[in-house]
Amino acid sequence: MNKIGIYPGSFDPLTHGHLDVIRRAVKLFDHVIVAVATNEAKRPLFSKGERCQLVNEAIEGIPGVSVDAFEGLLVDYAARKNAHAIIRGLRAISDYEFEFQMALMNRQLNSDIETIFMMPKDQYTFISSGMVKEVASLGGDIRPFVPEAIHDAMKKRFPSQYSPGHSSHPLNS
Ligand code: PNS
Repeated sequence: MNKIGIYPGSFDPLTHGHLDVIRRAVKLFDHVIVAVATNEAKRPLFSKGERCQLVNEAIEGIPGVSVDAFEGLLVDYAARKNAHAIIRGLRAISDYEFEFQMALMNRQLNSDIETIFMMPKDQYTFISSGMVKEVASLGGDIRPFVPEAIHDAMKKRFPSQYSPGHSSHPLNS
């Protein structure tokens, strides 16, 4: 039986931390689906299509992983995909409360689907998509935190911050 893991998230944008969790998850499952949540209430920087495209570029060359978008309840999506587990990354104790609540809510909604937590490499535990967006919007260098394709996409989203002469431009530091 093919073991399928669902790795859900906003991925706005995907970071090295997410990618590290994906690389670890493919060792445990026959197939991992990176499930991009629609959740427009979060007012994402990138559209659902853009986020899927960026994830797709980042996972190129990693066998056993694909990307998909979903709407509605995560457990319903996971059941439709015959998933065995939902995978979530845990970085720090501050993630725990929300993740614990979400895992138990999902279990209440569908007790057949387990949630498993995976820790990214310690050097990535401080990275969050929110902080990456803030750093990029203020002209900081985000290359250490995200794959190249995502750096390029962010550069297009905040062009003025990347112009030569900007005090925080990577080439001026
Ligand atoms: O990357 P994020 O924003 O922490 O991901 C959160 C996400 C998308 C996994 C979560 O909001 C989610 O599962 N949304 C789908 C709606 C749902 O099932 N809600 C009930 C469980 S909290």
